[in-house]
Amino acid sequence: MSSVSDMPALSPRLSLAPQGPEFSQIVLGLWRLSAWQMSAQQRVRFLEQALELGITTIDEADIYGDYTSETLLGEAFAIAPHLRERFEVVTKCGIQFPSAQKPLQTSHIYETSAAHIVSSAENSLRNMGLDSLDLLLIHRPDPLMDADEIAEAFTQLRASGKVKHFGVSNFTTSQFALLHNRFPLVTNQVECSLLQMAPMYDGVFDQCQQLRLAPMIWSALGGGALFEGKTEQSRRLLSALEKIAAELEVSTSTIALAWIIRHPVRPLVLTGSSRVQALREAVQASHLRLSREQWFDLWRASTGADIP
Ligand SMILES: NC(=O)c1ccc[n+]([C@@H]2O[C@H](COP(=O)([O-])OP(=O)(O)OC[C@H]3O[C@@H](n4cnc5c(N)ncnc54)[C@H](OP(=O)(O)O)[C@@H]3O)[C@@H](O)[C@H]2O)c1
Repeated sequence: MSSVSDMPALSPRLSLAPQGPEFSQIVLGLWRLSAWQMSAQQRVRFLEQALELGITTIDEADIYGDYTSETLLGEAFAIAPHLRERFEVVTKCGIQFPSAQKPLQTSHIYETSAAHIVSSAENSLRNMGLDSLDLLLIHRPDPLMDADEIAEAFTQLRASGKVKHFGVSNFTTSQFALLHNRFPLVTNQVECSLLQMAPMYDGVFDQCQQLRLAPMIWSALGGGALFEGKTEQSRRLLSALEKIAAELEVSTSTIALAWIIRHPVRPLVLTGSSRVQALREAVQASHLRLSREQWFDLWRASTGADIP
């Protein structure tokens, strides 16, 4: 096994679907950006440091940071316009809630009408100061979604050049199949970690492999819960992670992310940290291939039982 110093310093690049787009396997998640309290100049520096690690893809959503995260990113792009062309930008739409930023929004709803999808994408472009989005996702499955109407909005946004690719997030396999049948999707962004193995068993990863699409993974470290030791499961996991991390001379978060990346579905992994060291550890994970023995030791630590 190569040591950390031998590992390539850059995130690999992966194609989400056979016809693209190509993104960095490690994706900069900006859900928590407003909580980081960075000045605009610090945001620029953070983006530059991500690029230095080969992290060229950003994950945003209209609602992140109580509808402020896209604007904070847009401020950084306005100060350093050269950064705009260096990143692929993913954002989401389809959830609405009351907020001081949205005085006309009075209730918490899912909203996937064609008119809303188009106006939300246009608003995201304005917030970030971009001419086009690389990928737009429907954030959550809407029980009232009409696949024809969503396909109509996607067709319109693609024709106008405002959005290049489309996908969904948190969709079941049947919801994905329904929409994919109307309009080609390139990813399903789902939660997966050593604390959340559902996509390996509920058909989501099988569907991605079948269609040769790469899923995008959120809360890959359980939102930090993996390291808090608050439950029996996380204490078991932490001890198993520490053992392998010591053997391979990398951090426990590198091992936890390498466990996901080992899956043949070729997942892209979103980071959620403001620390450049955490981004570095994620990039290291993309160059580490755990053995089957290590992988199943972690599986056992997660489930608390042996494989059948
Ligand atoms: N599609 C969806 O529905 C959805 C839902 C949630 C999130 N997302 C996306 O996924 C991204 C990542 O989600 P997440 O923030 O929950 O990811 P995560 O990587 O599971 O959690 C990040 C959190 O863990 C903490 N943490 C503690 N120890 C850490 C360590 N050793 N290394 C790294 N982080 C550590 C970080 O704090 P520090 O900052 O102190 O490191 C941060 O608060 C979001 O930014 C967003 O873009 C999508």
